[in-house]
Formats: sequence, C-alpha cells, structure tokens
Amino acid sequence: MPSPYKTIIEPHRIKVVEPIRLTTLDERQALLRAAGHNLFGLRADDVIIDLLTDSGTSAMSAEQWAGVMRADEAYAGSRSWFRFEAAVKDIFGHRHVIPTHQGRAAERILFSSAVKKGQVVPSNTHFDTTRANIEFTGAEALDLVIPEGRVPSSRHPFKGDMDIGRLETVLQDREVPLVMLTVTNNSGGGQPVSLANIRAVSKLCRERGVAFYLDACRFAENAFLIKQREPGQGDRPVSDIAREMLRLADGCTMSAKKDGLANTGGFIAANDDALAERMRNLLILTEGFPTYGGLAGRDLEAIALGLYEALDEDYLTYRIRSVAYLGEKIAAAGVPIVEPPGGHAVYIDAKALLPQIPASQYPGQALACELYVAGGIRSCEIGSVMLGDGAPMELVRLALPRRVYTQSHVDYVVEVVADVCSRRAQLRGMRIVEQPSVLRHFTARFAPLTA
Ligand code: F0G
Repeated sequence: MPSPYKTIIEPHRIKVVEPIRLTTLDERQALLRAAGHNLFGLRADDVIIDLLTDSGTSAMSAEQWAGVMRADEAYAGSRSWFRFEAAVKDIFGHRHVIPTHQGRAAERILFSSAVKKGQVVPSNTHFDTTRANIEFTGAEALDLVIPEGRVPSSRHPFKGDMDIGRLETVLQDREVPLVMLTVTNNSGGGQPVSLANIRAVSKLCRERGVAFYLDACRFAENAFLIKQREPGQGDRPVSDIAREMLRLADGCTMSAKKDGLANTGGFIAANDDALAERMRNLLILTEGFPTYGGLAGRDLEAIALGLYEALDEDYLTYRIRSVAYLGEKIAAAGVPIVEPPGGHAVYIDAKALLPQIPASQYPGQALACELYVAGGIRSCEIGSVMLGDGAPMELVRLALPRRVYTQSHVDYVVEVVADVCSRRAQLRGMRIVEQPSVLRHFTARFAPLTA
C-alpha cells in the first residue's frame, strides 16, 4: 500500500559529513573581487552552497564505496569491467560498450569516427562540448528544438522535443550522418524529451537509414519526467521507460558524472559493429585499452552500481521534487524561471528579472555574482558570457548535485534568491576587462558597472 503521507523525504540518511565554511559578506566581496568577478575563479572552500554543476558532484552510496574497495584494477579484462559492461548492456541494450574518462571523450571518439567535414548533425540542442566536438570535425551542429523550447515562460511539458518538421526538411536537403537527442535538454533549461518524440525521431531516422544517437547523460531523470508528464506512461516502471528510450536509439554517448551517480566516467554504447571497431581503435590511441578506457577499476564499479541507483523510483521522486520545490518557491517570490522546472536544475531568466541590464552588460553574470556575495551561492551563467554575444536567452542555472544537499540547504537558497530579487532594481551590469579567445566563461575577468 502506498504511504498515506504527503511529505517527500530524502530516501537516504547521512553517514559521512563534510563541513561547509560559512563566510561573511565582507569576505565574499573581497574573494569575488580577487576572482575577477568570475565564479569559476573561486576556491570551492569559499562557497557555501555550490550549484555550479550537477556533473561529477554526486554523493556516492555506501554500496558504491564498498564497490570501490571490491574493484579489480587489472589492466586487461578486469572483473570490474565485466560488471560495468553487463550493467550498461542490461540498461542501455546496445551490442558494444566503450568506456571513456568522461562524456566529451565519448563525443570526440564518436564524431571523429562517424562524421565528416561538410555534413550536418541535428539535435534538439547540442551541449557546448558536443557542438565543439562536431565543429572540430568540420561538420555543422544544428539545434532543432521546438519553438516552445526557447520561451522561458512556456509551460509545455516537453520543451526538449525535437521539431520533427524541421528535421524532415534537413534530412531531405542535407547530408546527415547521424541525428542526436540530448536527454534531458541541458542547454535548453534541463527540459525533458517525450517518449512520443523519441519514437518519432527514431522512426524517421530508420526510414531514412540515418543513425540515431542519444546524449544520454540524464536519461533516468528524463524517463521519470516521461512517467510524470506523458499521458499513458504513468503506470510504467521508470526503468522500463528508460530501457525503451535507450533502445529506440542506435547508440548513446554518456557522461556517467550525471545519472551514473559517479564522480567521473563515461561511455559510448553502439550497435554498429564496423563503427564500434573504428571507435575502439581510436580509444586505444588516446583513452586506454577497451576494458578500462581511461577509468580506474573502482570508477567502473561505481558507475555499474550508480546506473541502477539512478533508476530507483524513490530516489527519482525525491530528486525531481527537490528541483521542483526550489523552482516553485523562487517563482512564488517573483523570480522568473524557465517553466516548468526540469530534471537537474532551476534556470533563472535573468533578462526578465533585470530588464535594466542590457545583454551587452551581462545580466546573468551580474545576478550570479550577487547570489555569491549575498549568500555564498555559486551558480552558472548560461547566456551571453558563455554562449557569446547574441545568445538566445540570458539564464542563470542553479544545478543541484545529486544526494548532496538537504531541504534546509534548499530553503536557504530560496531565501537568498528571494532577497536578491527584492533588490533587483539596484543591480547593475558588468563589463569584461580581460578574456581568452575561446570558451571565455571559464577565465574572463569582469568589473561591475556603477550607476
Ligand atoms: N552532454 C551534456 C548534455 C552535458 O550536460 C555534458 C556536461 C556533457 C555532454 C559532457 O560531459 O562533462 O562528462 O565531458 N555537462 C556539465 C554541466 C559540464 O555542467 O552541465 P562531460
């Protein structure tokens, strides 16, 4: 019988704790100035609540730590490799499993083996490393998310869906070696892709003889959001939905730093034998032998367990609820967010929150800096600083590490964000004083503009 109580609790208790150093406002002002007003330049010890990313920041379970001790560090054919391979095959369902040190290594190997100059690779929205790895081969990375996916206030339940009409046109007019779908759509607000849309993309690709790959980093969160939001899917076990999603694709690239619940790792899953052989040859060149691919046996073991833990329905219920809770509370305080909150993060619409700051003065950066000074919260600008001038949206992402923070941590974040929102009229923009030629968001230095 289901529980009669409404409160959703963290379905784990705490065995090991890590202290958080509580800095003061004056300290944070000085620390931010020293970091050139760039939150990537801070020491993590100077952050109270770190919402920079959900990648590689998960807390591992007691079982995973036990797996770390059980792991086999043999160079070739380690026991941990066979556990890892069996887990990926069971959940993902593809014939070949190729381990890599993280997601972008899987992307580099897939695209250098399957994509050529002049071709085009469509996706709902490519993550920035995916786009960069496609462009590095001389091919074009094309984003074909549905129009609702670019409107922060739209409440469409599956804002990560691919625009099927536009995909059909591209498949007709251009040379497409493979189509991708990012689940969930991180760069578009962490929004899920519906099962109906994945089925439609899969069918279209099969009809046209084009390969179909998922960027599957957050596959479990996407599957849970399908169960919650898609008509007819509510009664299915999440692991069933996930298995169907993954099997609709010919392969996947995966960063195990997200729904692998591990601190590092990744892999490629693929059905194409000839392609898998080319990828394994490239793997040996730069990542390692095909039974470890740049990972320690203990990483393989942690991922093999983490993939199953990520599909646990009690865990996912808590996970998705804590993201929705943060989104609902700050929206109620008047903060415009990308609606509805998705799987791993809440995205604040800085353009709508700070209309007095034009995009050229980086409203997202200004907001992210103020959240740090006010409450020691580290977030991530996803707007003109990260994506370049002319970015489609000016967002600030509050990404929740998995199983790390408690509800009172989230309540604290809500209080800080609401306080900053109440002072929104006083916030001023920033200018860049120093920047590198590529990926400027990591190292650029900023100065606040005065009124
Ligand atoms: N694909 C997506 C959708 C991602 O979100 C990321 C990483 C990657 C691929 C690359 O994986 O980091 O293991 O090489 N996203 C992190 C983030 C960095 O903060 O969103 P990786």
